[in-house]
Amino acid sequence: MELPSLLLTATPILLLAIYLYQKLRFKLPPGPRPWPVVGNLYDIKPVRFRCFHEWSQTYGPIISVWFGSTLNVVVSNTELAKEVLKEHDQQLADRHRSRSAAKFSRDGTDLIWADYGPHYVKVRKVCTLELFSPKRLEALRPIREDEVTSMVESIYKDNFTNPENEGKSILVKKYLGAVAFNNITRLAFGKRFMNDEGIINDQGKEFKEIVANGLKLGASLAMAEHIQWLRWLFPLDEAAFAKHSARRDRLTRAIMEEHTLARQKSGEKQHFVDALLTLQEKYDLSEDTIIGLLWDMITAGMDTTAISVEWAMAELIKNPRVQQKAQEELDRVIGYERVMTEADFSNLPYLQCVAKEALRLHPPTPLMLPHRANANVKIGGYDIPKGSNVHVNVWAVARDPKMWKDPLEFRPERFLEEDVDMKGHDYRLLPFGAGRRVCPGAQLGINLVTSMLGHLLHHFNWVPPNGMTIKDINMEENPGLVTYMRSPLQAVPTPRLPSQLYKRAASEI
Ligand code: HEM
Repeated sequence: MELPSLLLTATPILLLAIYLYQKLRFKLPPGPRPWPVVGNLYDIKPVRFRCFHEWSQTYGPIISVWFGSTLNVVVSNTELAKEVLKEHDQQLADRHRSRSAAKFSRDGTDLIWADYGPHYVKVRKVCTLELFSPKRLEALRPIREDEVTSMVESIYKDNFTNPENEGKSILVKKYLGAVAFNNITRLAFGKRFMNDEGIINDQGKEFKEIVANGLKLGASLAMAEHIQWLRWLFPLDEAAFAKHSARRDRLTRAIMEEHTLARQKSGEKQHFVDALLTLQEKYDLSEDTIIGLLWDMITAGMDTTAISVEWAMAELIKNPRVQQKAQEELDRVIGYERVMTEADFSNLPYLQCVAKEALRLHPPTPLMLPHRANANVKIGGYDIPKGSNVHVNVWAVARDPKMWKDPLEFRPERFLEEDVDMKGHDYRLLPFGAGRRVCPGAQLGINLVTSMLGHLLHHFNWVPPNGMTIKDINMEENPGLVTYMRSPLQAVPTPRLPSQLYKRAASEI
């Protein structure tokens, strides 16, 4: 027998043996019956967190799902989420890297894809103490206020300085995406790639192409990714990955050099690129780590905020009572002669509850990022063997009828009645995860989401497009690790403040 055919015959038998061995040796969580070789891969419906939730109704709050030969455990209630993210946090803090994630992150020399260990601890410290310190968050506030007011100005200009467009619906995501894009590129790279007319410059185009190409390469992995012994049949396009990395490094190095020169001329700057270059020696950071970290921020911090606001706006249009109540609060606290700023947040409790309620019902990463076990662990009385992936279905946890009254209702008041933390201290509400790997950008994300919502509501009234009612708004999700609305939200804004308040508050930083 030739070697390939021998391999093709022998390996499934070996895999079956491994599966049976694990099944007999360990008490694994229950779950749908896996098929030989592919496991449950072909049974998983595209919107995974809904599918896992359905399965949890049959098999219980902790289930086994086989991606080929890899065991994935999904937990779907508060108690188990706490076991994963608190009691066994350290043993479950590694990451599974697909072959493309391994390439992009140079085998985890960044933060997102790093396993838990000395490198991770060091880089995480840089994030906590330096990049996301309250002081830096405050220093970068003018960027956020510039971008949010610029969004208001664009909506106004596009729709109310041209009578033809008045009363027409807008694609809300277009405006939210621009804020998220400009905010993150300015914060990380100190660059606004977009001019006042929304035109992107050459460096910005290069940046966008790199992001899009990264997504394309990441998505190109076949099902065989999950079936280790089949991988050799689907080799990675090494050349395409190498080209992509070289292009990304070239752009990042050019920006880093520009910043080094600018710092020599005009002193300290607050952007992440400056912070990392200044701290490179102190924390012994390699160039790969600096580049990896900068791109981690783009990957993790761009879409998540825009998606959260899009879902929140959909809920506010579906629930005019809530929209009106939030506007009444804004009118009372801010009035009609000035615009909101982040300094107003503490006087806008209802607005903060609206943001929280939106993140409860629509966490943009409903299964967080999977954690990988670096030891054999017991969760909920079941064995989780070393090397398995563990997912917390934070979407299901935040809708659990045992924990939440009328869980499917969009009712921000619930948080006025009981204050529930959403930054990893209360295991009923985990849009940012919890424990060692909790999102380091949580406060930044909350500020940006709240600020965008506040401005959108203070400046405009929002209704569905002509001919549509609130019932017609499609609240289905798109498949994927991050959850966009399946049908991007269209809505009709009507200005509600004096025209001089629709101006961008530009900032030079
Ligand atoms: C509404 C906005 C956001 C949400 C809901 C969110 C949510 C999350 C979640 C669920 C995780 C995974 C936690 C885990 O693995 O246990 C995560 C990780 C991460 N987030 Fe966020 N995030 C948001 C905004 C941001 C922003 C604005 C940034 C940075 C600019 C950011 C940077 C990161 C990074 C670097 C990680 C990886 C942490 C690690 O692996 O240790 N996120 N985020």
